[in-house]
Amino acid sequence: LPSHYTLPSGDKIPSVALGVWQAGKGEVGQAVKVALDAGYRHIDGAWIYRNEEEVGQALKESSVPREEIWLTSKLWNTFHAPEDVEPALDESLAKLGTDYLDLYIIHWPVAFKKGSNNELDEQLTADPYPTWQALEALVDKGKVKNIGVSNFNIPRLANLTANNLKYRPAVNQVELNFWNPQPDLLKWAKEHNLLLEAYSPLGSNKQVKETLERPEIQQIAKDLGITPAQVIISWHVQRGTVVLPKSVTPSRIQENFKVTALPDDAFAKLEAAATAHPPQRVVNPSKNWGLPFDVFEDYPY
Ligand code: A2P
Repeated sequence: LPSHYTLPSGDKIPSVALGVWQAGKGEVGQAVKVALDAGYRHIDGAWIYRNEEEVGQALKESSVPREEIWLTSKLWNTFHAPEDVEPALDESLAKLGTDYLDLYIIHWPVAFKKGSNNELDEQLTADPYPTWQALEALVDKGKVKNIGVSNFNIPRLANLTANNLKYRPAVNQVELNFWNPQPDLLKWAKEHNLLLEAYSPLGSNKQVKETLERPEIQQIAKDLGITPAQVIISWHVQRGTVVLPKSVTPSRIQENFKVTALPDDAFAKLEAAATAHPPQRVVNPSKNWGLPFDVFEDYPY
């Protein structure tokens, strides 16, 4: 299985990352250190995870040089106004203790009004191109090496990329797991040379137990002599996506980094099982944010 994918910039992004969403204060730093010791060279974070300082401290204390680590962060919804983008990045850089990111992503295709608490900016939500142009400027300044999006569905991707972009989105980070495998989005992404990154790859804390107990997954694990989590994480890489398993448990962090190619029949069986049921999303904040639309379903709205 590929250890890296090559992005349009020529940069090589490691296929397995440590995800740090829901990795709490007092545990995330240790998780990052264990991951680096286990061989991870990719940390996927975000401003809104509120743990960038501790991640930065762990990176500083590790002996792995900065240039060997792939560091991703994400622009939060309240900072979509073009003039707010660079200050938001600067805050993440300062917390992480670095002067550049390997990848900076628009976290959600949802813009909140400046300084507001979940008040929708309809214009920048309908058309994120001004925000995107501010990200493009960060590439030209050398502050970020690659830019991408997250939680964009196909119509939103098509809308953004219909502009005459200086840099196309290098990635789209989305929920991908046994319950929500999104084969159509994956197919579209491959046709458009867009790399998908799988968040909540095990089904997140809500569904991880059910995922790992699936008979199909248990059987493949048994046949191959690997763990159910390794089956799932390997399946993601074999589908051609980056995978971002989250764990703060040292043994699991080590376990999750060991991916193996699944035999064709096992891969096909897993793909069939994942697509045999109606898709069931684990993460959807539309209602919590009081949006007048479903962020994954509706566009234009
Ligand atoms: P923990 O962080 O306590 O180790 P996802 O990556 O889909 O978001 O899933 C994260 C959830 O899965 C967390 O609750 C995490 O627990 C758990 N988890 C991560 N890796 C494993 C593993 N190898 N085996 C069992 N549970 C795991």
